Amino acid sequence: MRVFKKKDDIQGFIRHLHDKKQVIGFVPTMGALHAGHISLIEAARQQSDFTVCSIFVNPTQFNDPKDLEKYPRTIEKDLRLLALHNCDAVFYPDVAEVYPSGTGEHRPHYDLGQLEFILEGKYRPGHFQGVADVVSRLFYTIGPDRVFFGQKDLQQCKIIEKLIAGNPDFQKIQMNRVPTLREPDGLAMSSRNTRLSPGELRKAPAIYQTLQYLKEHLAPGDLSALQADAQELLVRNGFRPDYVSIAYTRTLEACRFWDGQSPLTGLIAAFLGDVRLIDNLELC
Ligand code: PAF
Repeated sequence: MRVFKKKDDIQGFIRHLHDKKQVIGFVPTMGALHAGHISLIEAARQQSDFTVCSIFVNPTQFNDPKDLEKYPRTIEKDLRLLALHNCDAVFYPDVAEVYPSGTGEHRPHYDLGQLEFILEGKYRPGHFQGVADVVSRLFYTIGPDRVFFGQKDLQQCKIIEKLIAGNPDFQKIQMNRVPTLREPDGLAMSSRNTRLSPGELRKAPAIYQTLQYLKEHLAPGDLSALQADAQELLVRNGFRPDYVSIAYTRTLEACRFWDGQSPLTGLIAAFLGDVRLIDNLELC
């Protein structure tokens, strides 16, 4: 497995692969890899000739500096795991390599529509601008044919789809959403789970149980009581919810009154101690 720190080096290497008509699969990550990431690598390997993974903790997508500081960094372990799973190359740049003009105000602005301001966007202002910026820089560097993102970050998947659709340079990129991998108790795999205490880990599956509760109790009509019950269930299990949303799957806008037909998705973000977890489930 090749490890690149410099843009020019990986670009030169990938240019040769493109000349040989190889299909490049790309999995962007922030490291602290777990089985969920490996499922992305495996999906990329199945659908590409050459698989590249990036490991970069992107400062511009953290609105809380403490969250950035606490983000787990496990590069040696990550590289061993990627090699074990036959990833072909890793891009592991420094901040200055990705943001040569710094991470300040003058960065480009991306038109992400209403999706930027709801759910995660409401509670983490600027987050999706940071995601769009780094992903766009990584796409220019790697020049992937296929990209792989986890469905656990459903809103992020939709943002990436918008980014691809809105940029003529990205038209050849095929976006792949990979289903969420869960622990046997239902907890969605996430790098943040490593920050949960043993006690919190026992409580954490309640987030998935709450999504299942929404699915089981969904009925046409006013959804406000169901939404409030789900929120209450989370609180009883020790969570501090940012949101519990029953949303239209297509737009992720909240659905208040269900016609019994439109596809819906449940989305939750909630704190357990000082760890913020998110999850989502297709309800119908
Ligand atoms: O999902 C993540 O890990 C990050 O948001 C991403 C896509 C790697 C961009 O930094």
